[in-house]
Amino acid sequence: MSILVTGGAGFIGSHLIELLLKETDSPIVCLDSFNDYYDPALKRANVSGFENHPRVSVVEGDFCDFEATERLFAKHGFQYVLHLGAYAGVHYSVANPAVYQRTNVGGTLSLLEAARRHPVERFLMTSSSTVYGNGAAVPFAENAPLGVPASPYGATKRAAEVMTLTYHELHGLPVVCLRPFSVYGPRLRPDLAMTIFTRLIDNDQEITLYGDGSIRRDFTHISDICRGIVSAMTAKGVVGEEINLGHSEPIEMRTLIGLLEDALGKKAKINQQPQRPEDLPVTFADLSKAKRLLGYEVTVDIRDGIPEYVEWYKGITS
Ligand SMILES: NC(=O)c1ccc[n+]([C@@H]2O[C@H](COP(=O)([O-])OP(=O)(O)OC[C@H]3O[C@@H](n4cnc5c(N)ncnc54)[C@H](O)[C@@H]3O)[C@@H](O)[C@H]2O)c1
Repeated sequence: MSILVTGGAGFIGSHLIELLLKETDSPIVCLDSFNDYYDPALKRANVSGFENHPRVSVVEGDFCDFEATERLFAKHGFQYVLHLGAYAGVHYSVANPAVYQRTNVGGTLSLLEAARRHPVERFLMTSSSTVYGNGAAVPFAENAPLGVPASPYGATKRAAEVMTLTYHELHGLPVVCLRPFSVYGPRLRPDLAMTIFTRLIDNDQEITLYGDGSIRRDFTHISDICRGIVSAMTAKGVVGEEINLGHSEPIEMRTLIGLLEDALGKKAKINQQPQRPEDLPVTFADLSKAKRLLGYEVTVDIRDGIPEYVEWYKGITS
């Protein structure tokens, strides 16, 4: 019996595998295509800490390939599927929706089909706060009506959730849909605003700020997210549920820039541009369900998490 982590070479997946090595005794399969959405060398670096671990197999492959996915499940008999693999960027999805549909919806379907034929104890689908969309009541609560996703990314995550929940209703697959909110920490994805701002401020270059800086994001530390995911593997009463994993204390982008300036000891040069329609004005997690069902607790304040992140950034650039 073993654990499958899809997208295990990514930002969240690689941290999750490190936590699983500490918290479980199970063999772990890290499935990742090492695609070039961002530099694959960063993904190779992400797995370097565990690729030679005796309990980890790093498998380079595409979960959109139904037959290969089926063979992988037949070979390993997974107990848990932790599905994190995806195209995860909001902005890229506006011009490239087809690859999001193929990967985030089609790829999830391929994994659900394999899990249906090779029963698992739990199938965790990693969704996103973007499913709340424009029009959802703030803070975002799982049982309130959803708005309309503002991007193809959000739409594909909602579609994947619905397909996942259908496999629960139809086939009794023990699924949970988790909705992380703006995750950050060491090894952060290079396409995200926090990474781009940090690099440009540090290099005394201009940053592009879309909107007036009042957009709010519920930044959540990677360690809290990973603990939430691990809790959902075995928690009772969570099957068939959607659960937020956030921080519940959104901050404005201009506050984020101020925290980065403080940590870097430099002032940002800001080039303000009009707000983009794919950016939700706010993300804000209601955590009552996560607390009740997972015992989820926020442990890292952004005022501690940003200096830690910047220290990591300085370590890789010095
Ligand atoms: N980072 C965040 O703030 C955040 C917030 C909400 C939800 N999420 C979700 O969490 C998950 C992980 O996000 P991340 O930030 O670590 O992204 P990431 O891009 O770093 O990781 C995703 C990984 O999936 C892999 N992948 C993509 N398509 C694949 C395929 N067909 N077969 C195998 N592997 C494939 C990629 O190579 C990549 O390594 C995603 O599902 C994302 O949508 C992330």
